[in-house]
Amino acid sequence: MKVLQSLAEVKEWRCSLAPDESLGLVPTMGTLHAGHRSLLAAARTGCDRVALSIFVNPKQFAASEDLGAYPQHAEEDLESAAEEGVDLVWFTREEEMYPERFVTRVELLPLADRLCGKARPHHFGGVALVVLKLFNIFAPRRAYFGNKDFQQATIIERMVADLNLDIEIVRCPLVREPDGIALSSRNLNLSREGRRSALALSRGLFAAGELHAGGERDVSSLLLAASGVIRSEARVELEYLELVDPTSLEPFDQVVPDGGALLLVAAMLDGVRLIDNLFLGGGDGSRDEGSG
Ligand code: PAJ
Repeated sequence: MKVLQSLAEVKEWRCSLAPDESLGLVPTMGTLHAGHRSLLAAARTGCDRVALSIFVNPKQFAASEDLGAYPQHAEEDLESAAEEGVDLVWFTREEEMYPERFVTRVELLPLADRLCGKARPHHFGGVALVVLKLFNIFAPRRAYFGNKDFQQATIIERMVADLNLDIEIVRCPLVREPDGIALSSRNLNLSREGRRSALALSRGLFAAGELHAGGERDVSSLLLAASGVIRSEARVELEYLELVDPTSLEPFDQVVPDGGALLLVAAMLDGVRLIDNLFLGGGDGSRDEGSG
């Protein structure tokens, strides 16, 4: 496994691959857990070569957010990467990604100002920008994203289609802890008590899921079932809870259609921002659902 820092070396490595070798790219901010590892495993199975980028991208954090508190565990990440059979790890340097005089922006409205974009207006622009740069640097055949960040994966798919990028976006299922909590690097910033309270998010989603499985299609009833569980945990400050169309991310306000709907939640807990989602209707709502 090659571990590189400089952009020039990464480009050299890319050029050394044979033209018919398929490259799978897994962009991350590090502090790898089983969710990230599921992406690496999918890339390992689906591609000849696997590249992992690790970069806590400042452009997707607002000044008031947790950039400084974002966990970093380079050594453990290298162990995980080696175990997953990664070929190249790139620890991206901020000064090379965003040199002086950098001005370019990427904008994907209105997808980027819904849901998480309401509280984080510049977030998805920053995500799309860094991912587009990574796509240009690596020219991967496939890039892997998790449905944990459902809105992010949808936005990246849109960007790839809009800009005619010749890259297949592979969406991987959300990975949970055995108790149901969605795996996230930020979970490490929760206290023991906070982690227990965080369970209310997935439990709320599952409560709505059960109601939906029992035949309930009324949006208010489904939202109420979830919010009842989430609000029962006083430490959780609910930011949004919405039932949306998984492709357009537009909210349903009355009845969930036969094709199903995606229930998404974001909340603050102990100053840590948590997100989770559940597809009501079977599967995980990805567009390639059922295609294998
Ligand atoms: P990060 O939060 O490190 O996540 C990297 C990738 O891992 C994303 O595609 C995310 O959806 C996926 N992932 C995280 N937790 C997961 C889980 N529990 N189950 C399945 N997949 C999971 O997302 C980012 O970094 C950044 O925004 C990035 C795309 C790297 C751009 O900076």
